[in-house]
Amino acid sequence: MSNRSPIETQLTENRTFPAPAAADVGFPRWHIGSEAEYLEQHRRSIEDPAGFYGDVAKELNWFEPWREICSWELPDARWFDGAVTNLCHNAVDRHVDAGHGDATALIWEGEPVDADSGAEQRSLTYAELKAETARFANVLDSQGVKKGDVVTIYMGMVPELAIAVLACARIGAPHSVIFGGFSAQSIADRVIDAKSSVVLTCDGGWRRGKIVPLKDNVDEACAKLADGPNAVERVIVFARTKHAVEWDDLRDRDWAELCLHVGTERAPEPMAAEDPLFLLYTSGSTGKPKGILHTTAGYMVHAYLTAKLTFNLIPDDNQVFWCTADVGWITGHTYILYGVLANRVPTLMYEGAPDSPDPKRFWDICERHAVTQFYTAPTAIRAFMKWGDEHPAAHDLSKLRLLGTVGEPINPEAWIWYRRVIGRDLLPIVDTWWQTETGGHMLTPLPGVTATKPGSCSTPMLGVDAAVVDPETGEELPANQGGVLVVRKPWPGMLRGIYGDRQRFIDTYWDADNDYYITGDGARRDADGDFWIMGRTDDVINVSGHRIGTMEVESALVSHPDVVEAAVVGMPHEIKGTGIAAFCTLTNAAAGKSLDEVAKSLRAHVTAEIGAFAKPDALRFAAGLPKTRSGKIMRRLLRDVAAGAKETSQDTTTLEDRGVLGELLSAEAH
Ligand code: WT7
Repeated sequence: MSNRSPIETQLTENRTFPAPAAADVGFPRWHIGSEAEYLEQHRRSIEDPAGFYGDVAKELNWFEPWREICSWELPDARWFDGAVTNLCHNAVDRHVDAGHGDATALIWEGEPVDADSGAEQRSLTYAELKAETARFANVLDSQGVKKGDVVTIYMGMVPELAIAVLACARIGAPHSVIFGGFSAQSIADRVIDAKSSVVLTCDGGWRRGKIVPLKDNVDEACAKLADGPNAVERVIVFARTKHAVEWDDLRDRDWAELCLHVGTERAPEPMAAEDPLFLLYTSGSTGKPKGILHTTAGYMVHAYLTAKLTFNLIPDDNQVFWCTADVGWITGHTYILYGVLANRVPTLMYEGAPDSPDPKRFWDICERHAVTQFYTAPTAIRAFMKWGDEHPAAHDLSKLRLLGTVGEPINPEAWIWYRRVIGRDLLPIVDTWWQTETGGHMLTPLPGVTATKPGSCSTPMLGVDAAVVDPETGEELPANQGGVLVVRKPWPGMLRGIYGDRQRFIDTYWDADNDYYITGDGARRDADGDFWIMGRTDDVINVSGHRIGTMEVESALVSHPDVVEAAVVGMPHEIKGTGIAAFCTLTNAAAGKSLDEVAKSLRAHVTAEIGAFAKPDALRFAAGLPKTRSGKIMRRLLRDVAAGAKETSQDTTTLEDRGVLGELLSAEAH
């Protein structure tokens, strides 16, 4: 594949870009530098996983060796059974022990920019990160947190968030990080599900010059839980914005104050390979988010290996890796923190929005910190395109060596723009396909190997046996036929369960008749064997790279007093990729109200129930929803309407009441 020359045609499907030579983009070498090498290593990883992963794992530290690399009894995989290790030790202490305490681990930049002094910046070496992490681990100890207790983390993007996550891993208390965009209700739901009694938060976070009221949201969540069995016992508050917040003397503690009373030594807890490492809630087909469970050793090895290979991470090579995701999502867990730190490459963490104070901000950061690998989402790339080429052009981006994308399919136009404007028409782009459930990359180009195609996430990572199968028969499909994407062999970073819901774990991901993991995505493979993701096959939509269950939004809508019934589907959106279109039937009492007012109230309600990012982009009202005679909502019809169709090409013969369709097609979007 890598010998093909770029075909400069506008026929999107045919353009390919061969992997550049390492030296041409500024790397001393590629970890994997030829297709033959990739194929050989991939073959070995599948045929001899014990040999392959054994070699990878030897690059990390183990307190006790494993007995067995992998045991697999569908749907349960165990990796590195018998081994004892600690991920915080491997991501931090290991480097200090090896004499790299002075190397930079974390570079942080705050959002506010001061006219005189510029942006607030902090940088921590591995020795400092170790001391701060051990200190906060001692704080957690002092507050009664024990190995196995779930700690909820709802913070902005500040270094203390990284420290908190690592401290949890250090003491073996699984973390459950909740993205700061979620509402009080969402915090409460997750605290209950995880049976967590300790919450770490900030007074506020900076976002586009405004304060996100993190502590207020936690207070509200605590109030909802106060009288139930899941009352929050302790809230530890890091003062970031330093504005006035409510304080409950019994429950709340000041972060810095607690740190004064403890030391900076705390040994990493010896963790069994399959001890829980973290929970991360994500959306599924039903209304309730699921707590994806990851365990220690397998996730560690997967995060380490994939970060290393996909981004060509090499220590002592002047690399600065920047993943623009939030630590509240899996991307931030694996590729801001664990995977990058484990490879001893400095990781950059930025607090705020890409256009604050202006649309040059990201490029300004890239230039000032000499960012070498840059990893972002297609939705951000589309926004950069819209803001204009002059913003990146105003900065020196010549230190960049590699670009990455994640979270949703990237449209070829955005891919080409990314390569041309940010990548100097030269840099490799790794379009990484993976999920909260997979822990790390599953399908991705390798920068020194793959001839990339705009919009294709290319080939399987080492150790990954992916296929596109017929959903009915389970048979692998021939080239260019769309089917469902599955993974046929266990991989170390795979989820080990849905917290507290064994049956949902089995029902969602495992088909009893076939021994493979069902991803929930549709895909096809082209004649070269490259994968193209075609979108979700379940009732999940991908909005700006964030997964939202349509049913979650529907439940939020119908819990509003004006709404009788609601249906939510995805609609094409210029920046978000997919936007949220909602269709509602109102109560008779509400029918007389101004629809703009109702729409406003519904958006506020969804914001309160889930978070602002789940607000419908378009709301339409009708006397009924289109249903089949058996009462099933015809979503494909709604998708047509949401996409702006004025008539439908769908088969409507099963529609119960055709009048409803006419009403919807002419309904105005609010
Ligand atoms: C879903 C997982 C993985 C981190 C961020 C999202 C979609 C993810 C790609 C890609 C096409 C992608 C899939 C997947 N997705 N990466 N490179 N190309 N689609 O994690 O919230 O667990 O969502 O995101 O639909 O199933 P997540």
